[in-house]
Amino acid sequence: MQKYLINPNQKISKINRDIYGCFSEHLGRCIYEGMFVGEDSPIPNVNGMRKDIIDALREMGIPVLRWPGGCFADEYHWKDGIGPKESRKKMINTHWGGVVEDNSFGTHEFFEACRQLGCDAYICGNVGSGTVQEMSEWVEYMTSDAVSPMANLRRENGHDKPWRLKYFGVGNENWGCGGNMTPEFYADQYRRYATYVRTYDWNNRAQKIACGPNGADYNWTDVLMKKAGRQMDGLSLHYYTVMGSWHKKGKALEFTDDEYYITIDKAYFMEELVRRHGELMNRYDPEKRVGIIVDEWGIWHDVEEGTNPGFLYQQNTLRDAMVAGLTFNIFNKHSDRVRMANIAQTINVLQSVALTDGEEMILTPTYYVFRMYKDHHENTLLGSYLTTPNLADKKAPQLTESASIKEDGTIVATIVNTSLSDAAEIHCQIADTQVSGVAAEILTGEVHAHNDFENKNVVSSCEFSDFEVTADGFKTTVPPCSVVKFLIK
Ligand code: AHR
Repeated sequence: MQKYLINPNQKISKINRDIYGCFSEHLGRCIYEGMFVGEDSPIPNVNGMRKDIIDALREMGIPVLRWPGGCFADEYHWKDGIGPKESRKKMINTHWGGVVEDNSFGTHEFFEACRQLGCDAYICGNVGSGTVQEMSEWVEYMTSDAVSPMANLRRENGHDKPWRLKYFGVGNENWGCGGNMTPEFYADQYRRYATYVRTYDWNNRAQKIACGPNGADYNWTDVLMKKAGRQMDGLSLHYYTVMGSWHKKGKALEFTDDEYYITIDKAYFMEELVRRHGELMNRYDPEKRVGIIVDEWGIWHDVEEGTNPGFLYQQNTLRDAMVAGLTFNIFNKHSDRVRMANIAQTINVLQSVALTDGEEMILTPTYYVFRMYKDHHENTLLGSYLTTPNLADKKAPQLTESASIKEDGTIVATIVNTSLSDAAEIHCQIADTQVSGVAAEILTGEVHAHNDFENKNVVSSCEFSDFEVTADGFKTTVPPCSVVKFLIK
């Protein structure tokens, strides 16, 4: 029997709902076909946005959407994507699949998508191949309500009032596709570009996000914090779980038990990353003013056979859901420093929450994890501890958890059991609490289980009743390969 202790007297940090954000790039079928089909499409849409996708993401509680990249961001010139659609420039998306980008989805369309989703906007600007003036003017275009050249241009293009812009990224992966810069060079560039990311209205101040490290590049974090920490609100972190090598990552649907456990172990590396980068940041920012923004994370498999290799289309099983669940538990536990995260990516690309095929749409196992964890949004993280063995010969534990409390006093506890063979008997005790009721939801199944266009509902979350309420908590048996959420009153 594993002991699970939750201490409501230990209130640690607020779980920013933006931890549950998504990333959408002009890559493959994420924006075009995924989010946006155009006003004239036979696929039901509102102002070009797919209704089925908007409804699903709203239901999932999407808090924030990052756009337009990714590597695409440092090649994107925002003025190509405004004005009458027929006169927008066409270009080749050199980074992703060599397809024609007609710029029919631009700034106005992105904010329209955010409006329909009811979510905040996170825009990533172009440092790699753009100018300071171009970036500065984009921010003016989006957020100025004055009489000014860019605000007037926005009005001419049909949008009178500024949009709310919560976050602005100053470049993407500038250590790689965003210009192959050294941390010293980028830190100077960041200071220069960020200076001209002006605030036109203090009630609509975009938080400035600097490009952060690639995985375990601690030197990058050190240099950035030392040279530019005072000019930023957040530092990004990118980490992808790749089971094999970058050349042979492994298939999304076919994998052995060994490959599954390697995946889990690599995904769990996220804990070390946010902890160690956070410790480094503490040296320069002990008050934790600067957030870690994990604005690209997820599993990266080989593309599905017969699809464009540049489109990064992959299926999604219970394995992906386990990774999502354990990653969210890590983010919650580190919510004193992790302020936002964006899964890569939202639709049809990498670890998506939804896949589309023409008019058809399916929700992935990862989607259900997002929906279950919605109950953690904006709660206060509580002190909690669950005893657990490690997975055989791995660093990752069999069980991960996080617990939080809502304003109305409901305690939310999420447990992930990553074992493929062992159920976990758990005795949960909540300090100084008289428990009156418990409700639970589970996502579980055979680890290869997934939804596809022939069988859309093989995997979905459902009510879980295998627990017994005790005076101060509950006793339960969590099945192998499952994510379980408990709501405790
Ligand atoms: O998400 C796919 C790509 O991965 C992004 O464009 C880039 O930032 C990262 O390398």
